[in-house]
Amino acid sequence: MKKIIIAIDGVSSTGKSTMAKDLAKELGYTYIDTGAMYRAVTLYSLQHGFFTSGGIDERKLQEAMCDIDISFRFNPETGRPDTYLNGMKVEKEIRGMEVANRVSPIAALGFVRRAMVAKQQEMGKAKGIVMDGRDIGTVVFPEAELKIYVTASPEVRAQRRLDELKAKGEVASFEEVLENVKTRDHIDMTRAESPLRKADDALELDNSHLTIAEQKAWLLEQYEKVVTTD
Ligand code: DC
Repeated sequence: MKKIIIAIDGVSSTGKSTMAKDLAKELGYTYIDTGAMYRAVTLYSLQHGFFTSGGIDERKLQEAMCDIDISFRFNPETGRPDTYLNGMKVEKEIRGMEVANRVSPIAALGFVRRAMVAKQQEMGKAKGIVMDGRDIGTVVFPEAELKIYVTASPEVRAQRRLDELKAKGEVASFEEVLENVKTRDHIDMTRAESPLRKADDALELDNSHLTIAEQKAWLLEQYEKVVTTD
């Protein structure tokens, strides 16, 4: 069976990472969570005091880019890759509200995006990957054989994110999370560098009212269509 690139893009908290991970597992593909990479750069910036009252110190971050090493290691216990920042596992740290609230401005910086995109292209060049993010089908792999654009209503997404945070013992209100979801959408869609948009040839999936099983069945159907044609 030929190996392909599956690009999954869309707004935040649609459950697209879970969907992408499960699909990769089912197909024996490598899963790459590109949001985790932007989150790791944000964590590094927080750890090194690059955030000031006036925003991010771009010069300091730009100088530090060559010292930021991000990698993924498969965790057999969870069956999923964990994110490492300079050799340290940071999976938990990058998922908290502190990073979530600061990641959009970091992901809007051109020099950060160029470094991450180059790394993503390198990681995906052997194909057999499911990569999720915002610009995978438009910028990272415009030639991807299968492109999915995932959406869901902001309220549904805020509730999902809140449930996730609660499960991890983090305290947040629905209003706070909804605000974060909407703000991130706005920044992601209006930024100058690679704004989030649906690639013309992407298939749209609104999963507001779909179960995980229904989504999976739909995705596998789309995958089958691609690998059995041409
Ligand atoms: O998917 P996520 O919520 O973990 O993404 C975190 C942030 O990174 C979010 O603000 C969007 C941004 N991002 C991006 O700009 N490009 C990507 N390919 C992936 C994520």
